[in-house]
Amino acid sequence: MKIVEQIKQPIREEMDLFEQKFSKSMTSRVALLNKITHYIVNRKGKQMRPMFVFLVAKMVSGTSVNERTYRGASVIELIHTATLVHDDVVDDSDRRRGFFSINALWKNKIAVLVGDYLLSKGLLLSIDNEDFDLLKIISVAVREMSEGELLQIEKARKLDITEDVYYEIIRQKTATLIAACCSLGACAVNGTTKEVENMRKFGELIGMAFQIKDDLFDYGTAKIGKPTGIDIKEQKMTLPLIYALNNSDSKEKAWVINSIKKHNKDSKRVKEVIAFVKAKGGLVYAVDKMISYQKEALQLLKDYPESPYKTSLIAMVNYVIERNK
Ligand code: IPE
Ligand code: IPE
Ligand code: MG
Ligand code: MG
Repeated sequence: MKIVEQIKQPIREEMDLFEQKFSKSMTSRVALLNKITHYIVNRKGKQMRPMFVFLVAKMVSGTSVNERTYRGASVIELIHTATLVHDDVVDDSDRRRGFFSINALWKNKIAVLVGDYLLSKGLLLSIDNEDFDLLKIISVAVREMSEGELLQIEKARKLDITEDVYYEIIRQKTATLIAACCSLGACAVNGTTKEVENMRKFGELIGMAFQIKDDLFDYGTAKIGKPTGIDIKEQKMTLPLIYALNNSDSKEKAWVINSIKKHNKDSKRVKEVIAFVKAKGGLVYAVDKMISYQKEALQLLKDYPESPYKTSLIAMVNYVIERNK
């Protein structure tokens, strides 16, 4: 059995029901919107965020989930989808999940509005059901994601990113939403304040590892359903490159910065920068950091009693760094 199927086994029923509810949560009376949301639902991603919600909820409650959990999982996936639709506009990317991105098919104007629509549907799903505790967790994540994306753009313009700023960017743009999945999972089943905070931290650590992995994909050539090699093109400096720069002499540094500033659309030059980063050990360094986040995350699970949910959650943590898309 595939690893993802194994992980899903203890939450199989929940994930099936979730998919129905998630799909329903997007419907609109506007035909164009329905056409686009159908396109989105038919090209679903890995659904790791709802998986985190259900696994945490079941591990914390010991058994079952409730309607709040389903709504929370739907809100998170709606917001995740909205940010991907916007992200592809921001990154000028034409592929997502192995197909054309929304902006590639319907152009930026429509993609921006569809993203806003999905975000509002998510927020309303919480509001209409008075899930205000969950809404608070989610709203903090939404704010942080926008800040993270903007901080990233600021740094891409100035090309002055440090390793610490990189961690701050990925914490905000990616880790906070995964942190929200895990704290929301605990909160939805009325976990204690301590449990909710522990799960938030757990999710944040996995989220860090998750984005480092995503940034490593960009240096590879594997088919992951979205473009690779676009970070440098977009002047986005991620951990492997930051490490390489920190371990370069001033001449090498000048060449790298000049490549990114002035030759970022020249594929041959971008490939040379990628080769340089590899030669400097940038990928090895990033893998090391990713593994240390993974280990730190696993530590936070150790006090929970053994259960199929905990076993799956551990497998999920490992999947985050071993996945091939
Ligand atoms: C992609 O997230 C966005 C990042 C935070 C890197 P996923 O890799 O979870 O995307 P899907 O939902 O599976 O497509
Ligand atoms: C992740 O950013 C998307 C958000 C957190 C909004 P990236 O731009 O690095 O993700 P991919 O690689 O396009 O999925
Ligand atoms: Mg981006
Ligand atoms: Mg992107």
